[in-house]
Amino acid sequence: MKNKIITIDGPAGSGKSTIAKLLAKKLGLIYIDTGSMYRTLTLLALENNIDLNDEESILRIAKKSDLKFDNNVADESRYTKVLLNGRDISLDIRSKKVGEAVSIVSKLSGVRKYLVELQKKMASNNPSVLEGRDTGSVVCPDAICKIYLTANIEERVKRREKQLCENNQSSLKEQIKCEIENRDKIDSSRNDSPLIIPDGSTVIDTTRMTIEEEFNLIKNIYHEKIKET
Ligand code: DC
Repeated sequence: MKNKIITIDGPAGSGKSTIAKLLAKKLGLIYIDTGSMYRTLTLLALENNIDLNDEESILRIAKKSDLKFDNNVADESRYTKVLLNGRDISLDIRSKKVGEAVSIVSKLSGVRKYLVELQKKMASNNPSVLEGRDTGSVVCPDAICKIYLTANIEERVKRREKQLCENNQSSLKEQIKCEIENRDKIDSSRNDSPLIIPDGSTVIDTTRMTIEEEFNLIKNIYHEKIKET
């Protein structure tokens, strides 16, 4: 099934979720939002007053918890539904607090190993689209279609602002810019699986593209790659 996998990597606000969900819906793929998994472990740490660098305790509580990722998004404006011990935490994991802390937790090698295994398992049974920071480089390096999205910082701030607004949250533009730049720096400079352009991927700058243009471009690349195999 590796053949039928699309990976979408890129920095915060580059438009990964929107396009990944649309591709999943229109091409009948399973949508795997790997960022939501790092966010879930971050929320677990915050709610249980665990030090964000205490990998052992975070993993212990994660393994004891009943975590369910429902990737079956009928409505592409929604994120993956995440259930923690039966409680819907889909909105909680999008909070500002989690957003500020998630880069710290996602730097931990044990956390990455644990989640990458889960992600590989999720992608092994069905044609899927994965989005994140290492899906084309580490989780599914032999995916048939690997995409790396970029967009300029102003556009990324605008998108993040819209996203916060949709979740009934708000933040100053300057603050959002700082948060994005800080996350970019941590995500790209960490030792374990930093955000990189994966080998063999197609880089797409989405700053001036419509979602439809983006969709058609990726769909064509995906179909071309399938034809070639
Ligand atoms: O895509 P997102 O904003 O939901 O991701 C949240 C954080 O999780 C991001 O700052 C870096 C981390 N992440 C990661 O390290 N590896 C992934 N595959 C996905 C996300």
